[in-house]
Amino acid sequence: MKAPTPTPDPVVQGHLSVLPNEVLAVLRPERGGLSLVDCTFGWGGHSRSLLAAAPDNKVLALDCDPEAAVRAAELKQEFGDRFRFELSNFAELDAIVTAPVDGILFDFGLASSHYDNPERGFSFRHDGPTDMRLNPATGISAAEFFRNRARNRSGNSRTRLRRRAALAGCGAGDPRGTRYR
Ligand SMILES: C[S@@+](CC[C@H](N)C(=O)[O-])C[C@H]1O[C@@H](n2cnc3c(N)ncnc32)[C@H](O)[C@@H]1O
Repeated sequence: MKAPTPTPDPVVQGHLSVLPNEVLAVLRPERGGLSLVDCTFGWGGHSRSLLAAAPDNKVLALDCDPEAAVRAAELKQEFGDRFRFELSNFAELDAIVTAPVDGILFDFGLASSHYDNPERGFSFRHDGPTDMRLNPATGISAAEFFRNRARNRSGNSRTRLRRRAALAGCGAGDPRGTRYR
């Protein structure tokens, strides 16, 4: 006999997973023997309830935030081989999931911890560096993005000014006169 679906614990270490009952109603993990993918692990509330719903369910979880990887280690300890975590963008799903699965869950967006920690740059309430990367080890921060953009824009407007000046034949704004670049 399959284990009954437990009522999901709404609070996993201070993080509230959204629509926990709806997720269970759609994926029906109590069927057991399922191979499920949680593309947005976050604090792991959904993954945990999918694993807890039947003793032979397996969950592959993805998240691109290294902090999620730390939390995933706790689930790994608890559920062993039934749980696997990949620090990855779900855009890579095709490459990561190569065998058929029984269900895929996306819970798009940020976790509340992203907003709560000023260092991540998402907070509406606290000052912090304008980082805004889900994985701060990759790419550039939002601050750098805007700095680059401002530089490019001012470069573009100088180019426009030179072109206008060249068309007017006065060379104003361009010490090299009417040459185009
Ligand atoms: C709303 S939270 C998920 C909460 C999770 N369902 C739970 O129960 O705790 C969304 C998560 O998706 C992750 N995320 C956002 N965009 C992603 C992407 N392109 N690839 C992988 N993870 C992503 C975020 O880092 C965040 O942890």
